Amino acid sequence: MDHFGYRQGEMYAEDVPVRDIADQVGTPFYCYSSATLERHYRVLTRAFEQQGLDLLLCYAVKANTNQAVIATLAALGSGADVVSEGELRRALKAGIPAEKIVYSGVAKTEDEMAFALKAGIYQFNVESVPELHQLSRVAEHLGLTARIAFRINPDVDALTHAKISTGKSENKFGVPWRQARGIYAEAARLPGIEVVGLDVHIGSQLTRLEPFREAFERVAGLIETLRADGHDIRRLDLGGGLGIPYDPTDQEPPHPESYAAMVKEVVGGLDCRIIIEPGRLLVGNAGILVSRVIYVKEGEERNFLIIDAAMNDLIRPSMYDAYHEIVPVREKKAEKVPYDVVGPVCETGDTFARGRRLVPMQSGDLVAIRSAGAYGAVMASTYNTRRLVPEVLVKENEFAVVRPRQSYEDLIGLDRLPDWLAQ
Ligand code: LLP
Repeated sequence: MDHFGYRQGEMYAEDVPVRDIADQVGTPFYCYSSATLERHYRVLTRAFEQQGLDLLLCYAVKANTNQAVIATLAALGSGADVVSEGELRRALKAGIPAEKIVYSGVAKTEDEMAFALKAGIYQFNVESVPELHQLSRVAEHLGLTARIAFRINPDVDALTHAKISTGKSENKFGVPWRQARGIYAEAARLPGIEVVGLDVHIGSQLTRLEPFREAFERVAGLIETLRADGHDIRRLDLGGGLGIPYDPTDQEPPHPESYAAMVKEVVGGLDCRIIIEPGRLLVGNAGILVSRVIYVKEGEERNFLIIDAAMNDLIRPSMYDAYHEIVPVREKKAEKVPYDVVGPVCETGDTFARGRRLVPMQSGDLVAIRSAGAYGAVMASTYNTRRLVPEVLVKENEFAVVRPRQSYEDLIGLDRLPDWLAQ
């Protein structure tokens, strides 16, 4: 459930008419709802509480790194999952304490490790043997100890889009589960390393529980073996990945309560602190991308709704063939007609939807692209020298611009001429 709904035919974000924001900020822009963020956080944490599980929720900040979004979740008690020094800096700056931060990713560099060690993060999720050795060297050099979990690749098919599936043996992520015993034994011998847990993340936008169950059963068995080998595994990080409804005509993904019940059933008996790393589930449906129709172009075969947002602002449809609901900001009573909804970028891939049935639209009308809070603004680029669009956060009847529209000076001014061209 989100807080973008209609009142007398006009779309509101909580208690603010979306049109008012468009008038003041211009289009396109991202609009996030505080109440929706809060609701999603509470539904998820309550589901684990009801199961009596000891939970550390680490929001996967990659989904939406705006300081205001992270700070909203930090105020609710959230931790963070980060995958770069930049994300770690953003999480710390937004008020997430280091002792609630886990660091994932296949390519942590020496500098990044040193920064995270000095910050005192909760845990490194280590993804390879070379990374383990590097971390040991960096920690020893600094006189610090890195608490680690290995990310286990359970070789399970997440049944999601190939580009966001991470738990098969052919993927670059994690260490193969069959090699885990040897790798844990190696870690136990290294200076600067304290083995505390095990981690698994099999992919994103999972719409069924079975792949999670399969992966969790595999790692539960592994934890028992590793404990028998003498490793003190106290934390189990289950990653993120629970999907959200994008297309209202599709079957809904499992509710967080069913997910938490399954977690309890499969790993509840292990007496581990459970860490989860949800991204999309918290922020996906808490955001929309608002755009204005520039032209309605009648083609020979199809009608194009040309809007001022493009693939550089929201890349999910072109990159993953993702479905995003598109709705008019002003409801109309009229028979729907099919449109190809496209942006201004000079690529045919710059298409948000094909043959989408919408009420007839005119130049100047506003549309909202829904479920754009996750992997939207964070994946934006300035392709075609288009400025990064503003982000707005709504809270009840107030809104604030939480990132202003980039200026052309900022965008073009980043380039430098070499001496031989500067004269
Ligand atoms: N933990 C790890 C280690 C991850 O790699 C990810 C996402 C998450 C947690 C959060 O997953 P979530 O709960 O959001 O599914 N850009 C793609 C999604 C990429 C996901 C990458 N990793 C998209 O727009 O669908």
